[in-house]
Amino acid sequence: MSTQTQHGILPQANHDELARQEFVRSFKIHLASRVSPGNRAIYDTRAEPEFEKEHGRKPKDHREVGKAMARQPYYQMWSSLQRTSQEMMWDAVSSAVDRQRDELIDGARALSGKAGGSLTLDPSLEIPRYHKAVDIHCMPGGYHTDFAEDDVTAGATYDRAVHIYAMGRLGELNDDMGQTPVLWMKNEQAAFQPRRILDMGCTVGHSTMPWVDAYPDAEVHAIDVGAPVLRYAHARAEALGKKVHFSQQNAERTNFEDESFDLIVSHILFHETSSQALRNILEECHRLLKPGGMMVHVEAKPYEGMHPYDAFMLDWDTFNNNEPFWRASHSVDYNRLAESVGFDGDKVITKMVPSALGEKAKARTTLHQGGDFAGSGEWFLFAATK
Ligand SMILES: C[S@@+](CC[C@H](N)C(=O)[O-])C[C@H]1O[C@@H](n2cnc3c(N)ncnc32)[C@H](O)[C@@H]1O
Repeated sequence: MSTQTQHGILPQANHDELARQEFVRSFKIHLASRVSPGNRAIYDTRAEPEFEKEHGRKPKDHREVGKAMARQPYYQMWSSLQRTSQEMMWDAVSSAVDRQRDELIDGARALSGKAGGSLTLDPSLEIPRYHKAVDIHCMPGGYHTDFAEDDVTAGATYDRAVHIYAMGRLGELNDDMGQTPVLWMKNEQAAFQPRRILDMGCTVGHSTMPWVDAYPDAEVHAIDVGAPVLRYAHARAEALGKKVHFSQQNAERTNFEDESFDLIVSHILFHETSSQALRNILEECHRLLKPGGMMVHVEAKPYEGMHPYDAFMLDWDTFNNNEPFWRASHSVDYNRLAESVGFDGDKVITKMVPSALGEKAKARTTLHQGGDFAGSGEWFLFAATK
């Protein structure tokens, strides 16, 4: 199990806080490795046969698997524990971050400018409805809520919680989703040398940093709608000695000039938007890319081709973890969408790529949990050249 890299702004935990956080992590591992596999046994021995008896055929998709599984007490127990583990995770991290809020805010202020990066906030930016309507993945206040002046709470909470949520499988800097497309670019697009890079939906910059390291001569920009995550992202980047220009902008329509980037990237941004926003974001990518420029997006595995049971388990977040666009985002036809916003279909790539962390990104045991976005050891990659 990886430990998290200590950097200048990571919230600390006292003895009791750490004990609670470690308990949640162990609880999640226990659920994923010991309890969740029982769902498959219940599906094979009860849910599917019951469905077959009633309908004269097996469930044809994840929705029908859902109907059959929702009645099973074992699944109900697991689902309730899974949700509880999520709420406990935010509680365990938030209490530590809340205790240190003032120090973290001061720390972020002090770090600003150390590595030459910048932060531009826009208090008038309207937070999209798809972020205001729910506390996304049960994170109190989502990515955008300020609990104090110059707040960094959402960023600090996210940084620590993601490490617990992914059970360490995103690496010590939570950066596997950035490392993976970087590795793919270095292997498959070796001649491509971007000079200006934009990361959309960067949150605290976990996946931005690998791009800074991979292309040290490039000017790197990163945007998000949430001010508290951006303040923290800026402080974190400066603490890590990485120069990034962060700004608070909606990726659906930014203030950058036409054809001003060679490379645009995003990492698990799409599933937290909406159908219309996703189209707008891709249109914006097309507008912002120079001719010959590339966009590279990373997402969780689409449901297509998956066994309906597996898709059902992955779909858990849609209704149980405040991820309203999760289901629809897993069935998007990216080839068609890219073409419809102006990309040449022959220059679109959609494929699964192995995680840069490889085996380390996988669980120690066969994990099979709902919402297991980090556990399969591979990521869905969607790239296109303008
Ligand atoms: C799951 S997080 C992304 C994680 C991050 N890319 C990483 O790799 O660690 C989704 C982020 O996208 C941001 N976001 C959602 N919609 C956005 C939009 N329209 N424009 C900019 N950022 C957006 C959210 O505020 C949130 O910080």
